[in-house]
Amino acid sequence: MKNITSEQLRNLYIEFFKSKGHKQIQSASVIPENDPTVLFTTAGMHPLVPYLLGEKHPQGRRLTDFQKCIRTGDIDEVGDSSHCTFFEMLGNWSLGDYFKQQMIPWSYEFLTSEQYLGIDKNKIAVTVFAGDETAPTDEESAKLWENCGINKDDIYFLPKKHNWWGPAGTTGPCGPDTEMFIKVKEKCSKDCSPACDCGAFLEIWNDVFMAYNKLSDGTYAELQQKNVDTGMGLERTLCVLNGKKSVFDTDLFVDALKKLEELTGKKYEKNAKITKAFRVILDHIRTSVFMIGDEKGIVPSNVDQGYILRRILRRAIRYARQVELKEDGLLEIARVFVNKYKNIYPELETNKNKIENEIVKEYQKFTRTLEAGLKEFEKTIKKLNSDTIDGVTAFHLFDTFGFPLEITKELARENNLKVDEEGYKKAFDEHQKKSRAGSEQKFACGLADNQEATTHLHTATHLLHAALKKVISNNICQKGSNITAERLRFDFNLERPCTKEELEKVENLVNDIINQNIPVVMKEMTMEQAKKQGFVGLFTNKYGEIVKTYSIGDFSKEICGGPHANSTGELGQFKIVKEQSCSAGIRRIKAILII
Ligand code: ALA
Repeated sequence: MKNITSEQLRNLYIEFFKSKGHKQIQSASVIPENDPTVLFTTAGMHPLVPYLLGEKHPQGRRLTDFQKCIRTGDIDEVGDSSHCTFFEMLGNWSLGDYFKQQMIPWSYEFLTSEQYLGIDKNKIAVTVFAGDETAPTDEESAKLWENCGINKDDIYFLPKKHNWWGPAGTTGPCGPDTEMFIKVKEKCSKDCSPACDCGAFLEIWNDVFMAYNKLSDGTYAELQQKNVDTGMGLERTLCVLNGKKSVFDTDLFVDALKKLEELTGKKYEKNAKITKAFRVILDHIRTSVFMIGDEKGIVPSNVDQGYILRRILRRAIRYARQVELKEDGLLEIARVFVNKYKNIYPELETNKNKIENEIVKEYQKFTRTLEAGLKEFEKTIKKLNSDTIDGVTAFHLFDTFGFPLEITKELARENNLKVDEEGYKKAFDEHQKKSRAGSEQKFACGLADNQEATTHLHTATHLLHAALKKVISNNICQKGSNITAERLRFDFNLERPCTKEELEKVENLVNDIINQNIPVVMKEMTMEQAKKQGFVGLFTNKYGEIVKTYSIGDFSKEICGGPHANSTGELGQFKIVKEQSCSAGIRRIKAILII
């Protein structure tokens, strides 16, 4: 296997797929656009959901990219050799173009060819779908691998738990997959397979044959368009190719790791406790840098993405204390990451000050109460006459001392205790009831649902945006949007609350356009043409050269991925249900359509 840097691996991947007729697209934000089924972009395919479901992509049917991804489900595993909460995924897609007959030989070529990764074919194992009531045994993929030259003994048939991928949220495109592994050591037993967690097999790539759409009732519908979606984890692949002990020993982390040793005067490999603390700090600071520095910029808060960021930063701060690293030290580590990635993700350099400010603010906020909170925790466990910390106490630690539940759980675990999570949730819900009505709808649906109601609200969002510009100020622009099947939510810049009269005018104007039944017209054009013709767009750079534009007469002109209603008459009556502050200088409107 080759020694290779992260930069070389990204380039090789993109070059390979360009040579197979793919267009490179840019990484999208770490927050999925208009998909409230999950908080973060969890895979390279996530921003492509509408296109996997049949929308036409402006760049064609063969795409490739590297995508910023965040998965925090395994946060407790961070500290081992491979788990990261942020990672980059290299990927390529066929949107109803080629299928497994092309993809498997390409995967084999990229992995084994000297020009690319040059991996010995005898070191590769693959898995294919064993089949069940949804889809048949994937004999075809197994045969394709065998024809390429993979040994029959290295092809494993595994069930849905292992060889079915997706959807990214709760609904959407998914399908059987074939995964590629490097055999790094002897199998632990005769029955050992890539499904075993003994570490004999390390996964590096996944080809998903995305032929199904999981619906909200849990059933699978066959997609008209058969897609390929692949994902190669950059960190893990680099680690395996270069024979490193962990992802933290790859070039992505090495500078930050050295800096950490220098700042603390401690050796990374001195003992397991320091190794774990270093890894948690490195991973969590890198993820925080990408969250705050993202084009949609997240800041620590008590809800949604902001809560996850807060939890990650506070966990980093707790581990930093173990190795006597302070605020300045954490900032230095953040700076190393900004420098390491700024050429590939320029938004990090643009948002450098914001990244530093938010880390400092959160550090100060948390450390102010951390000592007191830890004392309170000690007091609590001394008084305890069972092995469980009750929910009200856990909520008190959150509310008064800023301990996210996960930190309390982690501290409890260190003391062989449990936390009553149900009780915590109850205490939390009671506290939030007033201000968070309706939040449970957050996971109700998304673009993947493609439901009519969602589509209508999407079009209504464009009308609201245009009406706000006309009624209040032409400087108003979209700062965020979130749509469920029940309502739209639209965030925009304004330093003051809207007046009652303004809201009435906006509502009337939108209803006026709805009543005129104006067609919604989609046109593809270059970004430059779109700008010249006065189209507005929030996240314009991610689409590449050719973009989709939607116009509603002369009233609204936006660059947008869709989908939309065919004409405004379909929408029903538009009603604003709430106008409130969202954050400094940002207002939020919630509105519904009454059918
Ligand atoms: N979407 C697939 C994955 O994340 C490729 O593994």
